[in-house]
Amino acid sequence: MMPEEVLRTAQSEMLDYHGKGLSVMEMSHRSKEYMEIAEQAEQDLRDLYNIPDNYKVLFLQGGGRGQFADVPMNLIKDQNNSADYIVTGAWSKYAYEEGLKYGKMRRIDGVKTVDGLTCWNDDYTISSDAQYVYYCMNETIHGIEHPELPKGAEGKDIVVDISSDVLTRKLDISKFGVVFAGAQKNIGPAGLIIVIVREDLLGRSLSITPSVLDYKIQADKDSMYNTPPTYSWYIAGLVFKWMKEQGGVAEMERRCIERSKILYDYIDSSDFYFSKVAKECRSRVNVPFVLKDEALNAEFLAEAKENGLINLKGHRVLGGMRASIYNAMPVEGVKALVAFMDKFAAAHR
Ligand SMILES: Cc1ncc(COP(=O)(O)O)c(C=O)c1O
Repeated sequence: MMPEEVLRTAQSEMLDYHGKGLSVMEMSHRSKEYMEIAEQAEQDLRDLYNIPDNYKVLFLQGGGRGQFADVPMNLIKDQNNSADYIVTGAWSKYAYEEGLKYGKMRRIDGVKTVDGLTCWNDDYTISSDAQYVYYCMNETIHGIEHPELPKGAEGKDIVVDISSDVLTRKLDISKFGVVFAGAQKNIGPAGLIIVIVREDLLGRSLSITPSVLDYKIQADKDSMYNTPPTYSWYIAGLVFKWMKEQGGVAEMERRCIERSKILYDYIDSSDFYFSKVAKECRSRVNVPFVLKDEALNAEFLAEAKENGLINLKGHRVLGGMRASIYNAMPVEGVKALVAFMDKFAAAHR
């Protein structure tokens, strides 16, 4: 979901941006008008996350999966080097597999299943020679979210994928080497990936790194080595402004906790729906759940749709259901889902 206020602003500015006589889509990315939009968006993101001055913020293309290749190419230094990947679900696994093309990556199993419930596996050690430690803060498909930094990664350059929980919780950027997030879940339209990188990590890319993917080249050119996704960047800026007006990341986090608590409390109180994730590992943005009787899945989805509740089908990897409750989802949306789930359960007991 996008905040309606943002869509309305974009609508009102669509044909003529601030009396300049053209749409943002029609601006040259190097024009004064566009540079102001781009710089303001970056500043607002810096304000939201309190990004320290020794970090660059890049607005790039290629999505989250692009970063699965981009991170090792920029950080591994030599293809004989290794990095540690903490695999906690599908997205960190894909990152690890892509990483293997560029270095001798090591896989650490970061989760285990006990009595049918998935939870953390803390029984591992980070290798002393790891160039960096990689993890995914929120596994969008499996619905598990790391509340803290990975165990034993202190002193290492930590790389984190926050594609699905970006700006839903406070984050101390200074603890990380690289933080990246696709825009399409909590920020704006697809096509934009935001990379926050500590400056001392720039300039050590493998020689095979395509120039558009080289953090240093993009940083030196203010993300405009090639034409950036200008309209997505502009909308991202509107969303950052909206978040600041709403009370910033602290308020986004409060709403995120409120929304997810309503849903989990209901699931836990029910004998019709189940979560397969242990409480301490649960995501506050992606809530997978299963019906006691999986034969009712199709009916559940069809009736949910009739009630205006869409996109509830679980990822094909896991099946079941998944409610994604990103920043722009009002708490009323979750209450409507719970009311529907309750009605459906009562009718199918
Ligand atoms: C956590 C996470 N990382 C990476 C990706 C891949 O993003 P993209 O489709 O932009 O490549 C996704 C997509 O849903 C994701 O949820």
